[in-house]
Amino acid sequence: MRFWKNMENKAYNREQDTDLTGSPETRVQGMEPFWGEWYLDHRLGSGVYGDVWQIHRGEETAALKVISISEEKIPDERLRLEGFDQNGYHTYMESVIRQAEREYDTLCLFDNDPHIVQCEEGLRAGSTDEWIMLIRMEKLETLQDHFRKVPLTVPEVIRIGIHMCKALESCEKKGILHRDLAPGNIFYDVRTDAYKLGDFGMAQSMAEAHEMPEKAGTYTAPEVYRDNAFSALSDEYSLGLILYRMINDFRLPFQPLYPVSFTHKERSLALFRRLSGEAPPPPRILIRSPTEDPAEIAGIGAQVSPATIDSGRRLAEAVMKAIEPDPRKRYVSASAFRAALECL
Ligand SMILES: Nc1ncnc2c1ncn2[C@@H]1O[C@H](COP(=O)(O)OP(=O)(O)O)[C@@H](O)[C@H]1O
Ligand SMILES: [Mg+2]
Repeated sequence: MRFWKNMENKAYNREQDTDLTGSPETRVQGMEPFWGEWYLDHRLGSGVYGDVWQIHRGEETAALKVISISEEKIPDERLRLEGFDQNGYHTYMESVIRQAEREYDTLCLFDNDPHIVQCEEGLRAGSTDEWIMLIRMEKLETLQDHFRKVPLTVPEVIRIGIHMCKALESCEKKGILHRDLAPGNIFYDVRTDAYKLGDFGMAQSMAEAHEMPEKAGTYTAPEVYRDNAFSALSDEYSLGLILYRMINDFRLPFQPLYPVSFTHKERSLALFRRLSGEAPPPPRILIRSPTEDPAEIAGIGAQVSPATIDSGRRLAEAVMKAIEPDPRKRYVSASAFRAALECL
């Protein structure tokens, strides 16, 4: 087993016997205690290649992202069905691990940034056909958990926008495109009362941004879908769309307004219209009557108070500019978007 580097970028040279066989879960349990002193509490979330766990060292807690890839002995027939031979599959798995290493390296670029999730230590263990990567991060709250406790108000939506613009400004300075801005990748830090951008698993440097995204996601900008042209303006767009949804009763453009329910097919159609470059309708906050009761909203379970309808209107205008289908009509940078939000 080979240890990767720690935060100080020194080799972490403690040797530890680890059995990498078995299910991903038993593999993780077999590595306890992590860095000699951290123990598993419970799973916080799951991703494509692994889980995020809460861990503790005495009273202290942290989040541990585990990316576990094992090249099981796959029968030739199944490999052929998936379009691989044994060699091709190995190359594919190696590229997945490289992207995971890049996630850690990228996070390390943002040491002490108040609006980016802080990573503390990372390690990689593996042989030719078994890899495991661990990234220890500060433990934060998901937006969903946070807004279960406090209501989502217009001033708070503006604050999320400002904090995420600051995160994107830091990314621009380092030449990084995040490429996966979504509510699930924004966290809340109780200690600093700040929102933080996390999950750099899709991030790329601006120099290599010609690579295709895996798929067009819920918050992908139209130019990415149409022309595969990803720029900092595409991250700005995704942020705008996240804010749009928060002031549109948690509905995305072209979805029927709350509380009308919709089918999977209508959802796909709304996504297609947005990605094709059709101009989105203004968010519902603009047409909601100030006397209307705040609606109990599904989704992340929060509500936008109608008491702040005026700043809501101005927020809606800023958001509409950020989600212009034509990137040239958006704010020229995250700092310009932030300046607009700070004036509201
Ligand atoms: N620092 C953290 N603190 C608390 N929970 C976290 C943290 N990082 C991730 N999580 C939880 O794990 C989930 C997946 O993490 P994420 O880094 O977004 O991975 P993925 O690439 O799988 O989306 C998140 O949605 C969240 O629930
Ligand atoms: Mg994520």
